[in-house]
Amino acid sequence: MQWCKYLKVILVLLCATIFTLTIYKVPLGHFKVLVNNSVVERLFHEEPCACMERCLAASDDKWFAEHFRKDVPPVLSLNNSVLPDHIFNWWQSLQSTKSKANYSQVIKELFSVIPEEEWYRDAGPSRCRTCAVVGNSGNLLGSHYGPVIDQHDFVFRMNKATVQGYEKDVGSRTTHRVMYPESATHLDNNTHLVLLPFKTIDIQWITSALTDGSIKRTRFKVIDKLQANKDKVMVMHPAFMHYVHNTWLHIKSQRSYPSTGFLVLIYALHICDEVNVFGFGANDKGTWHHYFEKTPKSLKRTGRHSGGIELQTLLELHERRLIHLYTGW
Ligand SMILES: *[C@@H]1O[C@H](CO)[C@@H](O)[C@H](O)[C@H]1NC(C)=O
Ligand SMILES: *[C@@H]1O[C@H](CO)[C@@H](O)[C@H](O)[C@H]1NC(C)=O
Ligand SMILES: *[C@@H]1O[C@H](CO)[C@@H](O)[C@H](O)[C@H]1NC(C)=O
Ligand SMILES: *[C@@H]1O[C@H](CO)[C@@H](O)[C@H](O)[C@H]1NC(C)=O
Repeated sequence: MQWCKYLKVILVLLCATIFTLTIYKVPLGHFKVLVNNSVVERLFHEEPCACMERCLAASDDKWFAEHFRKDVPPVLSLNNSVLPDHIFNWWQSLQSTKSKANYSQVIKELFSVIPEEEWYRDAGPSRCRTCAVVGNSGNLLGSHYGPVIDQHDFVFRMNKATVQGYEKDVGSRTTHRVMYPESATHLDNNTHLVLLPFKTIDIQWITSALTDGSIKRTRFKVIDKLQANKDKVMVMHPAFMHYVHNTWLHIKSQRSYPSTGFLVLIYALHICDEVNVFGFGANDKGTWHHYFEKTPKSLKRTGRHSGGIELQTLLELHERRLIHLYTGW
């Protein structure tokens, strides 16, 4: 019976060793299998992005949560292009044209030219995407922000904003240029074009401008053949524009819509982990002008853009540390 006792002790030791080895030596991947999956899911999502300073997705700001709607798709795809009537009617009212094109047909033609891709739906604990939204304000002049702006993963610029000659203050990289047909400019092969469509013919225009150049006028005469990499083109979703108008700016009036700068800002909140904003608002003397205008005229706020509310919202985002606003002064 003595050997039986020894065997028991040996067995217990063996089991203890195996148990200890199992606990301490399993790689993390295996650990996931051992415990309740939903617990692991939660643990792994407590760190929703890899940025050191700020993580938009981690924000527990109530005001932000009331405005931010993750489910609204920022850009069009074939799958998400159908618009509810109230959004379609709002969108159609923005800039009236005589064209009575069939919207769903226009979308089909668009995606026969540009790729149908799920852009930037890759948020997660290992991603830290930093974005610079660069407006065109004269407050950039003399700011020396260039090197800071160029450090970002994405650099958004708008319309015809010139870089050449202003690199010291505005940087030299452009990963995304946001424009509408009447403000279009040629792009190099590496830059994404983000089209803001304010009417159906704007979507027809981009299809045409990347192919046969048959459309030469929208509201005005426009560039008919655009140099741009068609594999890098995306079109902002009319439902996204409506959401920015309604949910972020609470605008009731019809036929008004957010400015390019504000649309880009909210777009960046949706696809980036950290957003820094440059070149918005007035300069230190309170004048509004474009940094690339040789003779700055003070610009009056256009009636269609809700300049006041937009600026207030921008400052609110800054004060709540959701973005950082570089004022240039
Ligand atoms: C895992 O945990 C969640 C809640 O924490 C619970 O609802 C679920 O039933 C658990 N699943 C299993 C397989 O134990
Ligand atoms: C669009 O939807 C179809 C069918 O639901 C799906 O197979 C396809 O992967 C989707 N395309 C994209 C780009 O999500
Ligand atoms: C618009 O085009 C789609 C096909 O792309 C077609 O099914 C639909 O009937 C058209 N609608 C009208 C009003 O012509
Ligand atoms: C631009 O990029 C595309 C791929 O996205 C490539 O097919 C094309 O050859 C490039 N054009 C130039 C001029 O580099």
